Amino acid sequence: MQFSENLSLKPYNTFGIDVKARKFLSIYSLDELKKVLRKVYKSEIFILGGGSNMLLTRDIDKIVLHIALSGKTIISKTKNEVVVEAGAGENWHQFVLWTLEQGFGGLENLSLIPGNVGTAPIQNIGAYGVELKDSFVSCKTVHIQTLEEQTFYLKDCDFGYRNSVFKNELKGDYIITSVQFRLSSQNHHLNTDYGVIPQWLEKNKISEPGIKDISNAVIAIRQSKLPDPRLLGNSGSFFKNPIVDKKTFKSIQEEYPEIPFYALAENAIKIPAGWLIETAGFKGYREGDAGVHKNQALVLVNYDKATGEEVLNLATKIQQKIKETFTISLEPEVNII
Ligand code: EPU
Repeated sequence: MQFSENLSLKPYNTFGIDVKARKFLSIYSLDELKKVLRKVYKSEIFILGGGSNMLLTRDIDKIVLHIALSGKTIISKTKNEVVVEAGAGENWHQFVLWTLEQGFGGLENLSLIPGNVGTAPIQNIGAYGVELKDSFVSCKTVHIQTLEEQTFYLKDCDFGYRNSVFKNELKGDYIITSVQFRLSSQNHHLNTDYGVIPQWLEKNKISEPGIKDISNAVIAIRQSKLPDPRLLGNSGSFFKNPIVDKKTFKSIQEEYPEIPFYALAENAIKIPAGWLIETAGFKGYREGDAGVHKNQALVLVNYDKATGEEVLNLATKIQQKIKETFTISLEPEVNII
């Protein structure tokens, strides 16, 4: 067990924020994980997955355990379906590509989402009309205090929009070690509802798309709008899309008839935060090395040397302006640490 000391976490968070971990250890096996958990105080531990959904605003004066558990396995197969399992430390997009190579459908709309398999259930990642919960079977975990292994099934996870039990009542209690998904092995159910996907297919003259075509469409759409974290530090959507009541929505719509929205229920309307931020004049805005992306206003970026605090200050400024202009409170989607 060889801890690194005072290690920069810059390569371990997609925002590229340069803070230090007092101690750092990558974990490659379940045995190793248990061994460490047995030895250290639980309050001393900070769990790090893909680092793709966090804004680090300070040095981590703890023992950072970087979950690097690997492995991709086919667990069971019937005529139409297959269950696959991946280690928590597998890169999400590489795992999606692997499922597509095998001819398995279900995750194609979730192509190119940054992060690792083990952190995907925590916020129920979603994109282009599909969420992780749609193909999730279960995840294996280790309890951080008791070291007991426990499997969480779909019904246990309380998945919601960018939300799960692991973000709420069980926050910090369990370490996810692997995740199982149920995928289709034939007769794939393609999800092409999200407007930009059919547009892309049409433009590329693909009239009978397969799972790889959908994946290619999603990759192309994401690349055209969302910055690649390897080139420009970011954590994807910084805020959640707010859900407002009809009265609030109507009063905004009166002033801005072009406002995009999705009606979720009779009195629940989701408004794209990207539109609110753009309309408030922040698209492409920059303060030092912290900025708002020029193609997608929902994404905050680190041009190079921004500190977590600088990004957070910008986020706060945006929240205040949105509150003033639209009376809406924007809630961060990323974890602020
Ligand atoms: N919009 C603007 N200006 C912007 C950005 C968006 O007016 O700068 C408008 C668009 O014109 C469109 C609407 O907002 O009418 C929706 O935009 P988009 O399709 O880009 O999706 P989004 O609501 O901004 C959500 C997810 C993304 C996911 C996409 C596609 C959240 C917080 N974000 O973004 O997820 O990729 O839908 O499904 O729900 C992430 O979570 O990190 C993420 C990137």
